[in-house]
Amino acid sequence: MKINKELKEYIEKNIFPKYDKYYSHGMIHINNVINNMIMLSKYYDLDVNMAYTIAAYHDSGLNIDRENHEKESGKILNNDQELKKYFTAEQIKIMKEAVEDHRGSRKERPRNIYGECLSDSDRDFDIKLLAKRQLATSLKNYPDLATFDEHFERCHEYICKRINSKGKFNLWTDNPTLIEQRDAFQKDYLDKEYARSVYKREWNRISKDGTKEKIINYYEDY
Ligand SMILES: [Fe+2]
Ligand SMILES: [Fe+2]
Repeated sequence: MKINKELKEYIEKNIFPKYDKYYSHGMIHINNVINNMIMLSKYYDLDVNMAYTIAAYHDSGLNIDRENHEKESGKILNNDQELKKYFTAEQIKIMKEAVEDHRGSRKERPRNIYGECLSDSDRDFDIKLLAKRQLATSLKNYPDLATFDEHFERCHEYICKRINSKGKFNLWTDNPTLIEQRDAFQKDYLDKEYARSVYKREWNRISKDGTKEKIINYYEDY
């Protein structure tokens, strides 16, 4: 099944601009999540238009209230009258619940398969990308942390909370591509000195090229 052309155009024009002033949740992140969601929709035989829409809206509410951004993003999706042209009320409810349940720190299983796929699509099983996104989030939300080491320790501890009872970074789905990415990532990330060196390189880069300043003073995501 192909993505509906009009739906895609509507989202590109009206939803993607919401990510313009986001750094760690900018369009690189959104496109990664979209690609993962499309892959998972094929694997689990889900509705590709729903998968695409969920991914496109999932972080749109970040500048409204970071701590509850999944609820705010769910509201934006739920209240978007245009989506009624393409989806039934039941489909919109499923998509809203999926968006609401996507947080990586959430311990309860998402309420539906779309939420499970979204949560897993939202993980960064790429240590360099994670370093880039997580250091930005840390700088924004923990202005009192002064040094690289303080930021790194907080970041590493936060991600390690996602290790489940089986000793693995949690995944709700069992797609082999994501499992492979997770296992490779886990090997890198749990080698803490290696992880520190990757984060340090990113820290040096953003300190030198002005990105750090821009993250703090310009970007609107957290
Ligand atoms: Fe999010
Ligand atoms: Fe996200």
